[in-house]
Amino acid sequence: MLVLGIETSCDETAASVVEDGRWVRSDVVSSQIKVHAEYGGVVPEVASRQHVATIVPVLRRAAAEAGIELSDLDGIAVTAGPGLVGALLVGVETAKSLGYALGKPVVGVNHLAGHLAAVFLAERSAATPPPAVPPDPHLALLVSGGHTALIRVEGPGATSLLGATRDDAAGEAFDKVGKMLGLGYPGGVVIDRLAATGNPNAFTLPRALPRRDDLDFSFSGLKTAVSVMLQGRSLPEGQELADFAASFQAAVVDVLCRKSRRAIALQGIPHLVVCGGVAANRGLRAGLAAAAAEDGFNLYIPPPKRCTDNAAMIAAAGTRLLARGDRAGLDLSVDPGLPLSSEPSKGSEPPHAT
Ligand code: KG4
Ligand code: ZN
Repeated sequence: MLVLGIETSCDETAASVVEDGRWVRSDVVSSQIKVHAEYGGVVPEVASRQHVATIVPVLRRAAAEAGIELSDLDGIAVTAGPGLVGALLVGVETAKSLGYALGKPVVGVNHLAGHLAAVFLAERSAATPPPAVPPDPHLALLVSGGHTALIRVEGPGATSLLGATRDDAAGEAFDKVGKMLGLGYPGGVVIDRLAATGNPNAFTLPRALPRRDDLDFSFSGLKTAVSVMLQGRSLPEGQELADFAASFQAAVVDVLCRKSRRAIALQGIPHLVVCGGVAANRGLRAGLAAAAAEDGFNLYIPPPKRCTDNAAMIAAAGTRLLARGDRAGLDLSVDPGLPLSSEPSKGSEPPHAT
């Protein structure tokens, strides 16, 4: 089953062809980071316009790199929410037009379900054997720019939320602290790089860890602590900047690791998937690997490029929906606030060419 994934929920225009929900045939991501960096964050209207300009070339490249014609596809999966409304619309309208013109089924995918499905992707050509996939049920730590959550996954599309952030998402905290440190946008990946040569114990920063059985997160106190620490002084530079980045990253990683271990103990499920942009963070990957070795749970983290936004994960999640017969109509709509627990509205009438 060959499925085209389309992802335009934020500042990446992405298209990918995935075979049988697992094997990545192509994975094209056109990032808008440079365009938004001069504004210090994503400008929604600019994002929509960039998607309009980029989507067709990105789709063509995804088909060419997969070595297929669009007519070879068995279906199209597109992110329908959550995300920026104008940005989502570009992907959804493109998917519906393509589905109608080609006579192929279309399905709307929840972006968060996409992140959860990234762990099933593999490269057929890779020299190394494909990574193990988690059994059901498993737990997932979803850490992105907009979400931070611990989730119990019973199977495709069957999830329950165990805990979530009460304020900032982990990625948002990285980006806001990056901005405070004068590191530009997005700060997460720069902090990760700087932290590699810094001392994580150089600065004492708070860890928000409420009650023992609580699986919620809070990062606004940490962000405020950083802001207070930086008040009335010049921005750290050189080794001090690296130490600051390492200390901040350690505080975030510490909380994410402790809550993940708590979830595993409370649920009695020794399988943890980690996904979303912050799952690319080397400190988090190392911290969780150490916890897995100590506690004896199994850790499943996609390679960094599949943690940040991509369309292969949308194709992987969409393949499962298409396989069980889901079909979107031409009235498939976008939902900027779509919660993980709900699937995009299916629409009423499957598209078909005349
Ligand atoms: O999943 P994603 O690509 O987009 C959303 O769905 O939000 O996540 C983007 C977030 C941004 O906040 C970015 O700074 C963060 O993930 N991020 C990182 C790293 N790579 C991306 N944060 C920390 N370390 C990284 N290496
Ligand atoms: Zn994302």
